[in-house]
Amino acid sequence: MLRRLHHTQPESFAFTQANQAWAEAQITKYPAGRQASAIIPLLWRAQEQEGWLTRPAIEHVAEMLGLAYMRALEVATFYFMFQLQPVGTVAHIQICGTLSCMLCGAEDLVEVCKRRIGAHAHTPSADGRFSWEEVECLGSCTNAPMAQIGKDYYEDLTAERLEWLLDEMAAGRVPVPGPQNGRYAAEPLKGLTSLFAHESGRTQYNASAQLAVDIGDTLRRIDGTEVPLSAPWQGKGAGAAVTEAPARPASKTAAKPARKAEVAPAAEPAPAAPPAPAAPPAPAAPPAPVAEMAPELLTAPRGSGADDLKRISGVGPKLEGVLNSLGFWHFDQIAAWGPAEIAWVDARISFKGRIERDDWVGQARTLMAG
Ligand code: FES
Repeated sequence: MLRRLHHTQPESFAFTQANQAWAEAQITKYPAGRQASAIIPLLWRAQEQEGWLTRPAIEHVAEMLGLAYMRALEVATFYFMFQLQPVGTVAHIQICGTLSCMLCGAEDLVEVCKRRIGAHAHTPSADGRFSWEEVECLGSCTNAPMAQIGKDYYEDLTAERLEWLLDEMAAGRVPVPGPQNGRYAAEPLKGLTSLFAHESGRTQYNASAQLAVDIGDTLRRIDGTEVPLSAPWQGKGAGAAVTEAPARPASKTAAKPARKAEVAPAAEPAPAAPPAPAAPPAPAAPPAPVAEMAPELLTAPRGSGADDLKRISGVGPKLEGVLNSLGFWHFDQIAAWGPAEIAWVDARISFKGRIERDDWVGQARTLMAG
């Protein structure tokens, strides 16, 4: 299947303020020089915000990571999870068409989509509210046939049930995800034959469905305000927009230990209490800020013409434009920067710390030497 950018694109893209802070926090997860590794979470966040991945969004992410546009485009076009064309404003229905689902009625579900949404996949309905596509196995084969809608799985589907789901969503309601035939999770269709202890004390819905209900973000776009941002690796108080995440509602991982405790044999001795954790070391005092000093600036490139500053890893087209506007056109200008000059430039570009992280000065010296 050819995956190309859509013929109609918006003029621009910008993360919401909260999503921008989230994206910048993600980048700090990776070691110096490896910030490009954040590309998939950033592209995904852009898609969660807009519904699909636009060209300006891909370019925006590339600029944030100092990547050539082509590198970001390669990632966006490679992974099918990235939607390269507009999707329904209410919901995008992804019908699994692989073996188990196909044997159990996926073709009927596709027929519903064709009749209710549109004859062709990846094409929003006439009112723009719904779109659909057929996807490969989503790993929920025990509950075939199934569909992913928004961020959740709707399983054990029939054509009638899918029609009902579409009616509910069209009416502005969000049906509870999970099995749609009364099954709790992925137990045998005729009911449990073992592990009965798991039945007591369980949540109303299975862990995934319960979390979706608790969070309520099933069909919603993510603008960054719904889940508090968390970057614990930065330490408390680091980054104005980054806060500690509060206790989350019941989740898959939270549910497991509780269930283990229910079935633990009574005769088993209680495990020894773990040793008290050592007090964390006091955080080191932050280094004193370096005084700024303006480097040599030029109003235009010298007669031989400007150097291609994009050859410095970490400098993309946008940063090159910023550097030119500040008065930097040549490798030798950058190679001459000391700590005070770096502090001056750092304060005037939008990506603090990048100069030292990517060693622009060392790279510029290497490029000067040919
Ligand atoms: S075959 Fe449909 S989820 Fe695996």
